[in-house]
Amino acid sequence: MFKILAFETSCDDTSVAVIDSNYKVYANLISSQIAHEDFGGVVPELASRLHLKNIMQLTQAALDKAKTTFEEIDAVAVSVNPGLIGALLVGVSFAKSIAYSLGKPLIAVNHMLGHIYANKIDHPELEPPYLALVVSGGHTELVDFKSIDDFEIIGRTRDDASGEAFDKIAKLLGLGYPGGPIIDDMAKAGNPDFVKFPRALKQKDNFDFSFSGLKTSVRNYLLSKDKKFIKKHFADITASVQMAIVDSLVKKTIYYARKKRPKTIIVAGGVSANSLLREMIKKEAPKINVEVYFPALEYCMDNAAMIGAAAVDKYKRKEFADLSLNAFSKKGVRFI
Ligand code: KG4
Ligand code: ZN
Repeated sequence: MFKILAFETSCDDTSVAVIDSNYKVYANLISSQIAHEDFGGVVPELASRLHLKNIMQLTQAALDKAKTTFEEIDAVAVSVNPGLIGALLVGVSFAKSIAYSLGKPLIAVNHMLGHIYANKIDHPELEPPYLALVVSGGHTELVDFKSIDDFEIIGRTRDDASGEAFDKIAKLLGLGYPGGPIIDDMAKAGNPDFVKFPRALKQKDNFDFSFSGLKTSVRNYLLSKDKKFIKKHFADITASVQMAIVDSLVKKTIYYARKKRPKTIIVAGGVSANSLLREMIKKEAPKINVEVYFPALEYCMDNAAMIGAAAVDKYKRKEFADLSLNAFSKKGVRFI
């Protein structure tokens, strides 16, 4: 059995976790930076400075919660790409210093792969082949994994990511940030068929996604109605927006699965917390005999436990980084 101390600082959440080789999570502390709320989105420099401010205290708190000392840690893991470069550099520099001072191996983890591994925390037996729908604030990708390092990106977004669409449309509606969970909540009281917002790239063999047209269409819709009407139907509008985003994600995923017949679909990334997405995929997948997995809600959004989970396999394969390790902002499910 070995224990990993993991760090995640790719965007606006500072997170530190302790996880073992059986994917048992001893601590997974997340400090969400609410300071960005006033700006309606993440301010990169502010994010870096807040990581810098919080990371030491959070590390000590995570070790205390895990009842683990620095000496009991066998390796240090950190997300190195993709993400905000300044934010990533704080985590990478900090993880390097800890690994160096403890004389323990350093493990570099791709953040999106971390999201995929979040599924393993509650299902350690889960192994490729599987079809992964990766949906977050920066990514929307449908990825066919034959093995963990042999995969094909079947489709990706041509403009906004699905989480970004939730966030930008929430802003148009005057809601807070991040908008995804707020829309999810409000939509529960609404009629998803109230407005038929457009679905982009509907051709059957096109697995790319596009959400910027939806944003424009919502803006035009809001401009065409008076305030009283919008107020009265607010829940219906949010439910219709959510349905438009989720319907595209589910239709393309299920259509590809129907064609290629994978045994398993996994969903990963912050948007995998969405209640309608969970409900619709869970309803559709059994019809084509496919099993579907989601991370537990606490591991959907950015967190260090998922980075540690991805590092478990790398530790077993002795895939260690050296102390010249750098961070990269480049997008995508890529290995580093
Ligand atoms: O994976 P994540 O925490 O960060 C990135 O790697 O981007 O994803 C954050 C995104 C945000 O856009 C947020 O609005 C969205 O995930 N999100 C949701 C829900 N919870 C988080 N979107 C829809 N429904 C939710 N329940
Ligand atoms: Zn993420």
